[in-house]
Amino acid sequence: MTRVPVLEDLGDVSGKRVLVRTDFNVPMEGPDDARVISDDFRIRAALPTIEWLTSRGAHVVCASHLGRPKGAPEAKYSMEPIRRRLAELAPGVELLENLRFNPGEESNSPEFVAFLVKGIDLYVNDAFGAAHRAHASIVGPPRTLPSAAGRLLEKEVEVMGLLRDNPKRPFVAVLGGAKVSDKLGVIEALLQVVDALVIGGGMCFTFLAALGYPVGASICELDQIATCRRLLDAGKPIYLPEDLVGLDANGIFATFGQRLPEGAKGLDIGPGSAAAFSDVIMDARTVFWNGPMGMFEDDRFAAGTRTVAEAMAATKAFTVVGGGDSAAALAQFRLDDEVDHVSTGGGASLELLELGDLPGLAALRGAPNVK
Ligand code: 3PG
Repeated sequence: MTRVPVLEDLGDVSGKRVLVRTDFNVPMEGPDDARVISDDFRIRAALPTIEWLTSRGAHVVCASHLGRPKGAPEAKYSMEPIRRRLAELAPGVELLENLRFNPGEESNSPEFVAFLVKGIDLYVNDAFGAAHRAHASIVGPPRTLPSAAGRLLEKEVEVMGLLRDNPKRPFVAVLGGAKVSDKLGVIEALLQVVDALVIGGGMCFTFLAALGYPVGASICELDQIATCRRLLDAGKPIYLPEDLVGLDANGIFATFGQRLPEGAKGLDIGPGSAAAFSDVIMDARTVFWNGPMGMFEDDRFAAGTRTVAEAMAATKAFTVVGGGDSAAALAQFRLDDEVDHVSTGGGASLELLELGDLPGLAALRGAPNVK
């Protein structure tokens, strides 16, 4: 496979106008017309690339989506708060308006690609979190412009490649989150490379149901039970919670074993399971974690996710956190500096682990500057 071009492959950037696709899809809060950024991690993550370019005399034009507007401007998705923060962190850098205000972004229309590349000499993709979307700003510019991956994208690809191809063993994946169906592909792919899989979060109930346990009113995907049964029989150790906490049928906080009574809802793994999961993480040499163990936004159901986050911070293993909610949990517990790599892309990191490639990477490999 041709390698993905990097910044050095752009040649002399001095005096060039460079379109940098960033993922500035940051969490925001406040009223629609006065939104403020609640975490600027993704903006800071793009700075090494921006600084590499500007320090060599390039003029940088950043472009990003924010949220999921439906192809038309919406005040709450305006890039203005991000533009102000970017001006503080990287003065002189331009930022286009939200790419998804134009329907051509998601439909990858040639007209929108032409608009994006007008007056631009070079293209850099540093938007790992969006590199799994075959949108205009991701796959369009490399068709005509000399292109490269930015430093953030380069690093993310290197880390995910290491996990897929050459992990130190034992390699353990810890998965959580609500739905098994969202993660089936990645579970199948991970089962080929990991030594053990640890499953918590809402998705554990479909696995528990596959083992024949009653799951009460917990989230459970009935149409995935047979698939979970097959995965459990695939021959790799899969750790499931042996105790749970949640709400009983009267809405009162309660602890359970693996059987949930009628009307009861499991909302976090229990302390015994959290300790057992923590042991598996401590004994591993590589750990990938994606998805919280429970409803960690509610203090009553945060302990399982916190214990896993603490084990990720304490283990000597090479630790990678796959974006999204698990990265937010890590930040909530102030442990984000304690792991080896926090990915900026939730969906993108899973897709890269599963498929080994992304539309954004394939597009870069086809750019005119790639021999
Ligand atoms: C993300 O937040 O995962 C990326 O910015 C992609 O956003 P999307 O799922 O709306 O495409």
